[in-house]
Amino acid sequence: MSNPYKIDWNEYAALARQAVAEGCVLLKNDDKALPIRKGERVSVFGRIQFDYYKSGTGSGGAVNTRYVTNILDALKENKDISVNEELEQTYRDWLKDHPFEKGMGWAQEPWCQEEMPVTKELAEQAAAKSDIAVVIIGRTAGEDKDNSAAEGSYLLTAAEHQMLKEVCGAFKRVAVLLNVGNIMDMKWVKEYDPAAVLYVWQGGQEGGAGAADVLTGTVTPCGKLSDTIALDISDYPSTEGFGDPTRVIYKEDIYVGYRYFETFAKDCVLYPFGYGLSYTTFTRTVESFDFDGETVTEKVTVKNTGDVQGKEVVTVFVEAPQGKLGKAARSLAAFAKTETLQPGESETLTLTFPIANLASYDDSGVTGHRFCYVLESGAYNVYTGGCVRGAKLSGSFEVKEDTVTRTCVQACAPVTKFDRMVNHNNTIAFEPAPQREYDMAARSAAALKPAKPYTGDKGIKLGDVFDGKAELEDFVAQLSDEDLICLMRGEGMNSPKVTAGTAGAFGGVTENLVNFGIPTACCADGPSGIRMDCGTIAFSLPNGTLLACTFNEKLNEELFAMQGKEQRKNRIDTLLGPGLNIHRSPLNGRNFEYFSEDPLLTGKLAAAQLRGMRRFGVTGTIKHFACNNQEFKRTEIDSVLSERALREIYLRAFETAVKEGGAYSVMSTYGGLNGIWTASNFDLLTTILRDEWGFIGTVMTDWWAKGNDREGEEATRENVAAQVRAQNDLNMVNADAASNSQHDNLDDALADGRLTRDALVRSAMNICRTVMNSPVMERSLGRMSDEEREAAEAEKTSEDYVDFNGEYQFIDGEAPLDISAVNTEKGASTILGIRYKKNGLYKFVMRVKANANEVAQIPMSIFIDGNLRGMVMINGTNGEVVTAEQDIGVLFGGTNYLKLYFGQTGMEIEEIKFVCTQAF
Ligand code: BGC
Repeated sequence: MSNPYKIDWNEYAALARQAVAEGCVLLKNDDKALPIRKGERVSVFGRIQFDYYKSGTGSGGAVNTRYVTNILDALKENKDISVNEELEQTYRDWLKDHPFEKGMGWAQEPWCQEEMPVTKELAEQAAAKSDIAVVIIGRTAGEDKDNSAAEGSYLLTAAEHQMLKEVCGAFKRVAVLLNVGNIMDMKWVKEYDPAAVLYVWQGGQEGGAGAADVLTGTVTPCGKLSDTIALDISDYPSTEGFGDPTRVIYKEDIYVGYRYFETFAKDCVLYPFGYGLSYTTFTRTVESFDFDGETVTEKVTVKNTGDVQGKEVVTVFVEAPQGKLGKAARSLAAFAKTETLQPGESETLTLTFPIANLASYDDSGVTGHRFCYVLESGAYNVYTGGCVRGAKLSGSFEVKEDTVTRTCVQACAPVTKFDRMVNHNNTIAFEPAPQREYDMAARSAAALKPAKPYTGDKGIKLGDVFDGKAELEDFVAQLSDEDLICLMRGEGMNSPKVTAGTAGAFGGVTENLVNFGIPTACCADGPSGIRMDCGTIAFSLPNGTLLACTFNEKLNEELFAMQGKEQRKNRIDTLLGPGLNIHRSPLNGRNFEYFSEDPLLTGKLAAAQLRGMRRFGVTGTIKHFACNNQEFKRTEIDSVLSERALREIYLRAFETAVKEGGAYSVMSTYGGLNGIWTASNFDLLTTILRDEWGFIGTVMTDWWAKGNDREGEEATRENVAAQVRAQNDLNMVNADAASNSQHDNLDDALADGRLTRDALVRSAMNICRTVMNSPVMERSLGRMSDEEREAAEAEKTSEDYVDFNGEYQFIDGEAPLDISAVNTEKGASTILGIRYKKNGLYKFVMRVKANANEVAQIPMSIFIDGNLRGMVMINGTNGEVVTAEQDIGVLFGGTNYLKLYFGQTGMEIEEIKFVCTQAF
């Protein structure tokens, strides 16, 4: 029998490649310009043909891949077509003097690359010798720095304009490909009128291959836009106020993406949500429409009426009665995708949704049901089709009287007065957003239940609870206050207690906790593959936007089952992803990690990914909970929005991931949510997440996130007590939990009564539950299966073999090393030979600075003779020199190879010393 833990890398790559192809969205294809046909010759323009962007930047783009497929190489692999090699050579010659610019590290990468000037002559020469031109335009973006409505980011550069103008002037058939993480300005389509336009997004390591499959017709495009593309960035209501350094007001309320455009501004739309063309044609026939009082079920037959195979998506949108609350003209209620249909073949899809999902949250009391989800009475029209604009009326049902589907309490409501958008007869109006009417701190205090009293060590191990021989309450009652406090502190980055190079360790982070049988669980970024900063290779997956455009739950589940298997192999209990934030604005730098402007699509696909990972016993940490919609000043900004918008738009996907995806790990975010920073927001993390949704897992902070006690109070990193009170169980990340390296206020707050043991116990139980749900639990009990062990052994590689023939440097006393040869660029490693007189324990001491901010992550790994001995992770120091130290254990034998590997550009090292702390 085959070993289920063994990874078939070819199968993995094939699945990822399929996902890339299914996520590509064809926006225009005049006169069947695409696909490129057998025997045709292609001229490929744009430097991105050599420099494919596999992902955006920051933590979500830091997977060390074995390879990344470029679009040009993938096209050349296809022997049925040929590529204009003269043009290729022209680019190669130019690239010699214009190498890919990596930038200065974390958030300091350029969002686009210099483009080769394309002259009329060059374009015409190429046109004379080829049938079709492919023009590739690329952008990246990422953590800590947003897109901007400027050239080189949301807009084309002058060189890209020129390239499009000349190529479209010279060729009849031009296909423009966009290798981007997020939608961009598309006004140029009208200006240059290329025959075909294809978003290929950022597809991970198989990105070029998947895009080429669509170009050549191996795969018929079937991706659909997960966002609305408007005419101009100023058309998005979120643009006004975006980039505010202190407070972002979500005045558009629930009218995000197509909900806004379809209701108020149809004319501003260039390409609607759900739009995407195919090489074939389909008919969609609604066979039946049933409503049983609770659920709508439609059967829709999709028939391929064209002449090539393909898949098609069916969407169902609902138009709810305006009622007293006002509604968006359309809301996505269900979607499904066919399998590959041959010409003439058809498939009947069943689309179903409970009407309770259509209820709106009444935060003002206008319906008479304040703080309830209400299905307002009236006619509900159901539209079925492809894009939101094209979906046709397929049925309707009546809700006779206002019906409460869920009764809640006011939670997370704003404390800042502002006017929010409302729908008055399909014209925009504004009304004051209802304000918070209670004291969240008092609510939090009242909700805390007394824990079992401290018992001291009774000999119960966590394994006993795991095996059903003891109760969790009794286990946790044995932990001293000090142990409980340590348990709240996750360690990282690059903790030596877990898989090398990963973001964090939690659970058994101290000797005492380990002695109680709490194993040390591991989390790693995420979301598009595993990030291991010491250089370990992992599979780089397509990014969030692309996966959303597949509209394919099954494919997302299968792909993330592979990812889960890879996590299992690397002993990673939870991936820090998927990212479920809503694409509120096309300018958010991290949109590539997130799925869509629509919460249903986001939630369903995230749930599918979680189910996939869970097949191998691991999970994902859904993030960033909630409203991480702007990178600029992300640790300082307060998101101000109505409770209705929060629940219906920004929390809904998380709710789906918890309820349908079984999420048991959540990451809160950096910023504030209506005055209270999310990591310390009791309503968000307890009232809604746990009490309403039934979540029983762990919430962790984002890395070095802040907390505050009440609205208006400055949030600080030290205020971890506020986080624990809110049931943000894990504070991420601390260099050393036992010594309180981060100087948090847990001890002080416990001593002076701001924090109670009851709150610590409550969070300890949450953490223990998650640890018990993780593969590390069984492994710690020695129950790792032979199959899993064998699979892990089979994967071991000797990539760290060192072939050194340089000079050895003598470490004498504390003399600094000669570091002139050290290359600190991302992905670079330098090997130095070291010699010393004394065998003993050594410490690596480095004076270093980095010109980035305090949440920037810049890691360096220290290998001795090919074995990882430690990692130094610094945050940006804003240019100030700091000292970083790392114990590296024993140096023995007089000579060794030291390898320094840099996971990110940005360290400026002034000095490195080895200090012998104990000679043998
Ligand atoms: C990011 C998170 C990430 C964490 C660990 C933070 O900078 O916002 O998404 O998981 O770092 O790398």
